[in-house]
Amino acid sequence: MKGEREMEGPVALSDAHDAPADPVAPFAEDYERDIQRVLLTEEQIQGKLRELGAAITRDYAGRVPLLVGVLKGAFVLMADLARHVHIPVEVDFMAVASYGASTQTSGVVRILKDLDHDIEGRHVLLVEDIVDSGLTLNYLLKNLRGRRPASLEVCALLQKVGIQRVPLDLRYVGFEIPPEFVIGYGLDFAERFRNLPYIATLRPEAYREA
Ligand code: PRP
Repeated sequence: MKGEREMEGPVALSDAHDAPADPVAPFAEDYERDIQRVLLTEEQIQGKLRELGAAITRDYAGRVPLLVGVLKGAFVLMADLARHVHIPVEVDFMAVASYGASTQTSGVVRILKDLDHDIEGRHVLLVEDIVDSGLTLNYLLKNLRGRRPASLEVCALLQKVGIQRVPLDLRYVGFEIPPEFVIGYGLDFAERFRNLPYIATLRPEAYREA
């Protein structure tokens, strides 16, 4: 059939993904009405990930870094970033919670899921979607440093400017953004919006209606 590839199972892939993507094409009607402004388009994010991936590939050449994603927010970033790193890597995840359903940081960090393996002697690269107050990262870095990795660095896609409550040394940062609440590309409000391919701010009404 023209425009389709025959598959053995029930799924047929169309060639629609070959078309150039519209940077702010409507993604989901129910999301669009809550969005105030697109801060970073899908193309900007993917372009930056290519740069970050190239830098990581160069810096870790000859080693096998362990990429540690901080769930839930970093699940999208991890999947995309890992595919831009062109050396062997291993991946693991930690799940932490700090915000609950609110938009303000509480400063309380709970480990909901720990790493599967020992990291002693490993080159660990912590992958975070966003550094806000910095309290989550500060806690995680202290915790992981205690496990004696050979090296411990951070790759954060977003860093809010001017509001970190603790000094942090971030090796790789994708974008510095204003200190506004943002959603999309893994980041949620009340667990929604994580699957948006871009990063945006929410209309004030969206908070009130939640
Ligand atoms: C977000 C984000 C970071 C943290 C940053 O996670 O993914 O882990 O907050 O905030 P901080 O710098 O002020 O500590 P969140 O607690 O919202 O959990 P989630 O990733 O499961 O959505």
